[in-house]
Amino acid sequence: MRIEDSKILAALPELGVELRSGAALSSETSLGIGGTTDLLLIRKHEGIPGLLQLLDSNGVTHKFLGGGSNLLVRDGELPWVVTQLARSEPEVTLDGNFAQVDAAADLGRTVTFCAKNDLGGMEGLIGVPGTIGGALRMNAGAYGMQIGTYVREVKLYRAAERRLEILSGEQISFEYRHTSFAPDDMMLAVKLELPSKPFKEILQGIRICNEKRRASQPLGQKSAGCIFKNPPGASAGCMIDELGLKGLSVGDARVSDRHANFFVNAGSAPAADMLSLIGDVRERVSQAFGVTLEHEVVLWLA
Ligand code: EPU
Repeated sequence: MRIEDSKILAALPELGVELRSGAALSSETSLGIGGTTDLLLIRKHEGIPGLLQLLDSNGVTHKFLGGGSNLLVRDGELPWVVTQLARSEPEVTLDGNFAQVDAAADLGRTVTFCAKNDLGGMEGLIGVPGTIGGALRMNAGAYGMQIGTYVREVKLYRAAERRLEILSGEQISFEYRHTSFAPDDMMLAVKLELPSKPFKEILQGIRICNEKRRASQPLGQKSAGCIFKNPPGASAGCMIDELGLKGLSVGDARVSDRHANFFVNAGSAPAADMLSLIGDVRERVSQAFGVTLEHEVVLWLA
């Protein structure tokens, strides 16, 4: 979708929004899949209510993009525009054991920055691609930890109330790959409380997690991480592997040979091929185990 209304175009600079016309979402997603649309880069949080009011009142539909690392986007000219937070400087500010982090901050860089300042706890997330905001929304976790444990405050845009709000950690529930945020809430910033640990000790933890990840996940390939959530008490990857589905392909969309819950784009897979592979694997798991796998990957197909 292209914004052509001169009234909207004229209002964007004042709202702190930069227009990237005809952005290819294939370059914004770790799967390397996605069509083209206008991307609105948000440079100041205070401009968000005005921006969304402007888009809504002019019938411009929109979706909020984080780091694009857990997302499958349809192909072609997209029927909505995309909003995204610009990275701020500095991304992280520290005050004792508290880290105030911008939602657009890179997750890995944040973990490393905190580690260098003797703040640990998030070692497990070191190899996970994406932003702090994306990790927060889905309560990302790995190797026995999850980000929600450390959240003390979240600044967000509440679409239902059309305003910026600050929630305390107790007002949010964090479960396995799930949070109580509304689907249209926009994560803007988070305050984390992290345990003090010497850098050397954190580094040791980071090394161990990195090694485990390198040994079991297809890190150099285009993927969206795990496609399915693990069902209670089981591992989706293990089930898919047991069915001998590693290497199963639809065109360039392929079940990873290294980890069966990672589906990789081995070339230039269209969204439809990736979706067809996801549907096929889901069906086979359902038939064999009587378990309906829930998507972890977010689908933008409409
Ligand atoms: N397994 C197989 N074959 C496979 C993959 C896994 O037999 O192809 C077996 C493993 O050998 C192991 C068990 O399944 O015994 C679990 O595997 P793994 O340790 O890789 O964990 P997982 O449950 O598949 C989860 C998260 C990952 C996270 C790892 C490490 C989910 C859906 N996945 O994977 O998170 O990195 O644990 O903590 O919760 C993600 O969410 O995108 C993600 C990658």
